[in-house]
This record gives sequence, structure tokens and C-alpha cells, in this order.
Amino acid sequence: MSNTTVQHSTASDANKNNSDYNKAPAIFCKNLCKTFQQGEETITGLDQVTIAVDNGEFVCLSGPSGSGKTTLLNAMGGLATADSGEITLQDKRIDLLSSADRADIRLHQIGFVFQAYNLVPVLSARENVEFVMQIQGLPAEQRRQKSMAILREVGLEGMEDRRPSQLSGGQQQRVAVARAIVSDPVLVLADEPTANLDSSSATVLMDLFQSLNRDRGITFVIATHDERVIAYCKRLITMRDGKIETDNLHRRSDA
Ligand SMILES: Nc1ncnc2c1ncn2[C@@H]1O[C@H](COP(=O)(O)OP(=O)(O)OP(=O)(O)O)[C@@H](O)[C@H]1O
Ligand SMILES: [Mg+2]
Repeated sequence: MSNTTVQHSTASDANKNNSDYNKAPAIFCKNLCKTFQQGEETITGLDQVTIAVDNGEFVCLSGPSGSGKTTLLNAMGGLATADSGEITLQDKRIDLLSSADRADIRLHQIGFVFQAYNLVPVLSARENVEFVMQIQGLPAEQRRQKSMAILREVGLEGMEDRRPSQLSGGQQQRVAVARAIVSDPVLVLADEPTANLDSSSATVLMDLFQSLNRDRGITFVIATHDERVIAYCKRLITMRDGKIETDNLHRRSDA
């Protein structure tokens, strides 16, 4: 399978639209910089990263190990702060928020999917999904209805009462997706979501991501090395040494 690429519109194009709410990107990062101090050594995490991801985009972030993908996703999602630069989610500068307000944004507007699923082992699939809504203060009956519906949507009907250890890796990852989308987030950030999955589970997961993007309009940014994942994306951003190296629309030639 070969791919064709065309240059994507630049972040500055998106920046021009920033005053218009409807056209505001889902997430806009401007001049993000981050370093890590390891003893005497200063390690570059992000070096002047500027990108805009529009609502409804399906973006893959690729590049060699250590190029800054996880650091960028964590900054975008407010899991870690950058040293400098701006991050705007829809129309809100999240880099200016307190850590409590950033946690609130994460709870309601951003879903995370991690390589290692990060489910709570002693909770069932349903309880793992309900946990988020419990923090949000939703009543028990509403939590139950929403969790059952979302687990059905990700193909786990009948498995709601199983604990993570009683589910396959692919099924656990779909519980994690259900948890990520149960609050109708604007944006899902996924870090190497297929790294521990076999081919067929990876395909099921990517088909699910694709349908959530298409049918619910959820914006996806997925950090990955996995060619199976890259084949699904509509835009491919590559990083190197903490910088954006390339940013291209991406089409499967056989699509
Ligand atoms: N907490 C940390 N302390 C020190 N250095 C860090 C820390 N987190 C990341 N780094 C460094 O920052 C750089 C970017 O790391 P990052 O985890 O973002 O890379 P990555 O592209 O996600 O790599 P991978 O593909 O292996 O997941 C690397 O040089 C890494 O060693
Ligand atoms: Mg990483």
C-alpha cells in the first residue's frame, strides 16, 4: 500500500480563524517548549511546537522514540505543563488555568487512551466507566444507563461485570475507550493505543476510533509507531527532536 501526501494548511491559517469560535481549532498549540533536567543534562521534550488540530480531524503523530510525542500529548491534555507557549482548547487557554481547573477540563472535555489501558483492576468494566461519571456527580441510575449504552457501543455487551483481568487486551482497551468517550469529549488523545494489541484487536480498535470520529465528530490525536494505525489517519504529523518535522494530509491510495 502506498500513500499520497499533500501539504496541510499551516497552524497560522488556523490561528487567523481563532477569533471565529465556530472555526476555532479543537486544540491549538503555539510555540510550546519543554525541557527536562536530568542531573547536569538538559533534555529537550518540545522545541517551539506550533500545531492546530481542527474539530473533527483524525490525526496521527509519529516519529522516532524520544521525539516528543508523549510530551506533546500530555501537554495538550493538561496532564503536564509546558515551560512556555500557549494551548487553546476550543476557545479556552488551558495553559493559564490552575491545576484544579485543568483537571476539570480533562474530566469533561478530553478523553485519554493509553498503551497500558490504565483500568482500575478491582473494578468491573462498568464500574471503570462509571468511575468518571461518579467524579462528575451524576446520579447512580444515569451512570448505569450511560455505562451500559457506551459498553454496548464499543462491542462489550454481556461483559460489563468482568474485571480487567477477565478481559483480553483488546477488550480492556475498548473499556478504556468507553471510559474516554462517556463524557462526550471534544478531543480524544491516544498514546500508542495498539502497542499491546494483536492485529485483529488493533483493527477492531481503529474501526471503533474511525466510527467515533465519523459519527460523533470526536477529534482524535493518536501518537503511534504503528503502520496499521497510520493507515487510518487523515493527517500525519511527524516529530523529531521535540520539533514538528512534517505535517501532511494523508490518503490511502487504495481508499
Ligand atoms: N520525565 C522525564 N524526565 C526526563 N526526560 C524525559 C521525561 N519525559 C520525557 N523525557 C525525554 O523527553 C524526550 C521526549 O520524550 P517522549 O516520551 O515525549 O518521546 P516519545 O516520542 O513519546 O517516545 P516513544 O516513541 O518512545 O514513546 C525524550 O528524550 C525523553 O527521554
Ligand atoms: Mg511516547
